[in-house]
Amino acid sequence: MLRSSIKSIAPASVANFVCAFDVLGFALATPYDEVILRTNSVKQVRITKITGDQNNLALQAEKNTAGMAIISALKHLNSNQGIDIELYKHIPLGSGIGSSAASAAAAIFALNALLKLDLPMLQMIDYAMDGENVASGCRHADNIAPSLMGGCILVRSLDPLDVVSIPIAANLYCTIVHPDLEINTKYARSILPTSIPLADAIKQWGNIAALITGLTTNNCSLIGNAMYDYIAEPIRGKLIKGFAQVRQVALDSGAIGAGISGSGPSVFALSDSEETANKVGQALGELFLKHECKNQIYVSQINKNNGAKIL
Ligand code: HSE
Repeated sequence: MLRSSIKSIAPASVANFVCAFDVLGFALATPYDEVILRTNSVKQVRITKITGDQNNLALQAEKNTAGMAIISALKHLNSNQGIDIELYKHIPLGSGIGSSAASAAAAIFALNALLKLDLPMLQMIDYAMDGENVASGCRHADNIAPSLMGGCILVRSLDPLDVVSIPIAANLYCTIVHPDLEINTKYARSILPTSIPLADAIKQWGNIAALITGLTTNNCSLIGNAMYDYIAEPIRGKLIKGFAQVRQVALDSGAIGAGISGSGPSVFALSDSEETANKVGQALGELFLKHECKNQIYVSQINKNNGAKIL
């Protein structure tokens, strides 16, 4: 018998891992978004409640990432099942730590369990990307895949969809600093070039290969040397007050490396201990304050195994 309601959570994530635009992302242990789904008999997908960022989020299901993920799945499955969605936002919207993706991931994960669909992971990622599309104007999976699967995920290809879980040998802590700025992902994507010089591409793919090697072999200096971006950061960094000093301040406080989280405005740094990660957070928080930018600091272990979960 089908259950009539179900609750799920999906964690925040850091996309791009600095050098790997659109192809690499990792899940955080906290914060996470929470979704409760209930079947309804009116054959509609409805958002019945949003807490957290309710003023900034649409109640129409097709304009909401969680709603759209479910609409997409039901459409592909030729199902007219009605679903009511309650969305409890704990990840700040527009922060650059995969808030829209976590809602879509939690929703599709809950739908799969509620209707006993037994969907393969790739299919869930695919439907959740239709949700992500509502927020960022494009289907990218470098937040969705880690939020659903946990750990660090390489999105090798979108068509056909192929993702690879990268085992992280190192015990890494992530500092996220979210300055009080707004950067819309659609805009942050629209200002990027559509082609790049070969010399930049060579440096970039060298870094991606080095980063993955460093992660899997617990080589922190290789990870740090690889966390440079020649493509998006020079353009997006200008949108974040104080960004020019972020990397140096983080490294001076003991971080392994640092950069923009997803499309920003959050920045992140990796450290090899919680103590260092806290110190880095304090230093970056002070840096943003010098630039008259209030900010929120999160410190979380990289979430190696847990993506979306049914509670
Ligand atoms: N890879 C995406 C981007 C992530 O950088 O636009 C958005 O969070």
